[in-house]
Amino acid sequence: MPITAAITAVEGYLPDYILTNHELSQMVDTNDEWITSRTGVKERRILKGKEQGASVMAVEAVNKLLKKRGISAEEIDLLIVATVTADYIFPATANIVSDKVGAKNAWSFDVNAACSGFIYALTTGAQFIQSGAHKKVVVVGVDKMSSIIDYTDRSTCVIFGDGAGAVLLEPSTEGYGILDFKHQVDGSGRVHLYQKAGGSVKPPSIESVEKKEHFVYQEGQAVFKVAVKQMADVSAEMMVRNNLKPDDVAWLVPHQANKRIIEAVARRMELPDSKVMLNIHKYGNTTSGTIPLCLWEYQGKLKKGDNIILSAFGGGFTWGAVYVKWAINS
Ligand code: ACO
Repeated sequence: MPITAAITAVEGYLPDYILTNHELSQMVDTNDEWITSRTGVKERRILKGKEQGASVMAVEAVNKLLKKRGISAEEIDLLIVATVTADYIFPATANIVSDKVGAKNAWSFDVNAACSGFIYALTTGAQFIQSGAHKKVVVVGVDKMSSIIDYTDRSTCVIFGDGAGAVLLEPSTEGYGILDFKHQVDGSGRVHLYQKAGGSVKPPSIESVEKKEHFVYQEGQAVFKVAVKQMADVSAEMMVRNNLKPDDVAWLVPHQANKRIIEAVARRMELPDSKVMLNIHKYGNTTSGTIPLCLWEYQGKLKKGDNIILSAFGGGFTWGAVYVKWAINS
């Protein structure tokens, strides 16, 4: 059998502070009923503290991952971090994580694909296992969304939260792991969801700060419509081209942007709610963190050989789906 990239361990990290809908309703003109019915979010985690970047959460998740698998950081060949809230514009957050966990023999880089970041990074990492180039690849999805959210903007501040998840990829010759993927982009969608300033088009200035251009800008409805269509289409296509009927799919692991989007995708795939991983009610949209955090929390329910579809849509626009055969019995 050809070499495939199996997920051999998964871990997650969430900061302690819980920001509830009730607390948000005291900050902006919103309420629990609106947030719950329109998004599915009840609470989210926030990383507090001065100069605490996304890497803080990533390091926690990776250290736990290594401990769980019983390997040393020096065994890691490659470490990829998916994030849109990097510690710095440069260097890559992956380099900081590699340094802090002691991955002395690894190379590392970041992937920036917004909410599709984790699946893009997972697929990228898998190529290095499948080619035989590497034996151990760590893929992290982490975002400190609270660092780019305007907590006076009710249309975005209710949605996002902070968190990190990480997986280890290792070679399998028994057909487990990442078996298929499809990723797509439509760069023209960038105008509907982005951070206007801070990059080379608009470096930080007093004006950009005053205009609040360092925060997430999102035209919710425009994004919603495309997200539902593209996430559903690509997930259904992943089933068809791998000859998977609804009964053959054990789990859908959808990006957690909005419960209504997730429900639409599951309907299209003809999957019951009981096969859909959900953590949006507890953590909101943690951007690159949602999918590995779902895998982490549901791993006790996963069985070796389960067919799993990961699916995401995010800023860019970026989207895609990955077909994984689960490799471990928890
Ligand atoms: N509380 C109360 N009312 C609100 C709130 C709030 N928090 N936010 C908006 N409203 C109001 C609006 O002002 C509007 O009022 P109006 O009718 O008087 O004008 C009304 O609610 C409806 O607003 P919409 O924006 O149409 O609300 P919608 O149902 O579309 O929900 C949401 C907004 C949750 C943002 C939704 O559009 C969505 O989920 N979009 C997709 C998000 C997504 O998938 N993003 C991609 C991933 S993120 C990434 O890549 C970083």
